[in-house]
Amino acid sequence: MIKTAVFPVAGKGTRFLPVTKSIPKEMIPLVDVPILHYVVKEAVDSGVEKLIFINAKNKRSIIDYFKRNYELEKFLEIKGRNDLIDLIRDLSENIEIIEVIQEEQLGLGHAVKASKELIKKHEFFSVLLGDEVIYSEVPAIKQINETAKEFNAPTLGVIEVPKDEVYKYGVIDGESVSHKGFKISKMVEKPKVEVAPSNLITPGRYIFNYDIFNYLDKTSKGTGGEYQLTDAINAQAKNERFYGHLIVGDRFDTGTPLGYMEASLDFGLKRPGMKENILKMMNEKIKKYS
Ligand code: UTP
Repeated sequence: MIKTAVFPVAGKGTRFLPVTKSIPKEMIPLVDVPILHYVVKEAVDSGVEKLIFINAKNKRSIIDYFKRNYELEKFLEIKGRNDLIDLIRDLSENIEIIEVIQEEQLGLGHAVKASKELIKKHEFFSVLLGDEVIYSEVPAIKQINETAKEFNAPTLGVIEVPKDEVYKYGVIDGESVSHKGFKISKMVEKPKVEVAPSNLITPGRYIFNYDIFNYLDKTSKGTGGEYQLTDAINAQAKNERFYGHLIVGDRFDTGTPLGYMEASLDFGLKRPGMKENILKMMNEKIKKYS
């Protein structure tokens, strides 16, 4: 199983200003649980034990959240609130947390490259984007690992979207090689709908081998003056076998206000005891605003 996960969380979150001026977008809650909690839980539930956060200097709250808070635990113990102690300890036990500071936000490729010294040469490792949440019965990274294991090769997660929405995403070109597996020939960033190679997009979940660093080292600045992870993946897929795995689950891109609103609503509706009240509230809003 994959034991190491890298979480790039150093981004500036400009699409979510002004809140991201002081609060990381990855720490905004869905109901009352930070977005990143779900992402980290997906990795931990998949068997990951070593968490590497590629972080920015002004986003300390991310690391604080995943560490034990003994003072708060003591306070809750005195108050007899053991139920809350369990809640705040949920993901803090039996894991190793490492923080790497990305001094300059030069893109996702640059962020992943910052983990190079911490990855063993023969190890497969996962990368999970801190602002993409996947709700699924089997954790998404565990699902993707089926294809990575079957072909003993790097594999990224893919999901289907309606064809007319592909222009917003990284789209996969490849052929089906198993029930859920694809052999990827290339990835196209934000293609026009008419020329998109498929309606399979990547929701920010990857299993890489160490070779990705060779390609990241050779990648130069691309779109937006940033080092693009997609460019390194394309270079690797050209020279080596690279696979995709169709994830079963609901994906939420919480990096934009609208995507975040949808995720909030959905997680509220899933929360025991809240559904009826939310639906009632929504009916009233529909009447008022439509
Ligand atoms: P995004 O492109 O969605 O994040 O990257 P961003 O750059 O913060 O967002 P905008 O475009 O300014 O609104 C996906 C993930 O990669 C991280 C982000 O924190 C986010 O979780 N990231 C992005 C880095 O760690 N470093 C970077 O240089 C860029």
